[in-house]
Amino acid sequence: MRILSGIQPSGSLHIGNYFGMMRPMIGYQEEAELYCFIVNYHAMTSVANKELLAQGTLEAALDFLALGLDPEKAIFWVQSDVPEVTELTWILNNVTPVGLLLRSHSYKDKIAQGLSPNHGLLSYPVLMAADILLYQSERIPVGQDQQQHLEIARDIAIKFNHTFGETFVIPEAEINPNVPTVLGIDGRKMSKSYGNTIEIFSGEDTLRKKIAEIVTDSTPVADPKDPEKCNLFAIISLFLNGDEKADLEARYRQGGLKYSDVKKELFERIGEYFGAAREKRQQLERSPDQIRQILKFGADKARMKALPTLELARDRVGLVY
Ligand code: ADP
Ligand code: TRP
Repeated sequence: MRILSGIQPSGSLHIGNYFGMMRPMIGYQEEAELYCFIVNYHAMTSVANKELLAQGTLEAALDFLALGLDPEKAIFWVQSDVPEVTELTWILNNVTPVGLLLRSHSYKDKIAQGLSPNHGLLSYPVLMAADILLYQSERIPVGQDQQQHLEIARDIAIKFNHTFGETFVIPEAEINPNVPTVLGIDGRKMSKSYGNTIEIFSGEDTLRKKIAEIVTDSTPVADPKDPEKCNLFAIISLFLNGDEKADLEARYRQGGLKYSDVKKELFERIGEYFGAAREKRQQLERSPDQIRQILKFGADKARMKALPTLELARDRVGLVY
């Protein structure tokens, strides 16, 4: 089974990214042929700053490696190090109806958030389709928000195969109901674009401050509280096993629980949970050239897989003469 997914280096990665995408991806390296990459071409649609994009790319790679991604087991690279994907994007542009792109929720949301409606933003899903089809990927683990992009990728693949003959594997989205949607400190979905994130590797002071900002209700300390309705409970549960969660739930329902105590526990849990990864990250940070080397090694492997498919697509449309 060939599994592929990517993440944008458009800001510091947060615990929503970790539980929703990074942890499941890292788990797959043991059982599948895993393709994991940092989609810096995609991030160009929202980051127009040289330093931020370059630094963000290296940081995202550090995060993945520190959290356990093994470049010997998975193919791990930076999207733009296999620039052939842009050639496939051009080829796919010619079977992509503009109407399909204009209907994209993500495009409409980004415009509503104030991003300029440029062509990069509109054709974002075509580049994503090229990412997926170039590697003949079978399964694509993504969050609910990416479902429509996956449908677009499938539509494009089906149309291409129909027009030019069998070329691409038709990919399947994998939206795992067991992977939680992590809530942010304000109770909405945790997202870089809402500024409500808890970063995986922020410094202690920032972490303490972010946790202090988690919104809770004003139930008096002595009264029973409803864990189901508590955002703080949802966040700390990510770091608890079944028994610990049941204990905390009972403390909520009993009354006498202080949210500030739960916040202290959360601070400690996050420290413990990511402690080993934090140390590994600090080590890796000291040798950025080694990280660049790992990424180049991954890009070479990815390119080896990509070239035959690109060649076939070029041939199918008549670019080989
Ligand atoms: P953001 O919303 O912070 O910009 P991205 O859209 O770059 O995050 O998402 C990268 C990956 O992380 C995607 O696979 C997405 O489904 C997952 N992800 C992002 N936020 C969350 C969240 N709050 N809970 C679970 N998964 C998430
Ligand atoms: N659009 C995805 C996101 O924002 C990132 C992405 C780009 C991707 N190319 C991909 C995900 C290919 C899966 C497969 O989360």
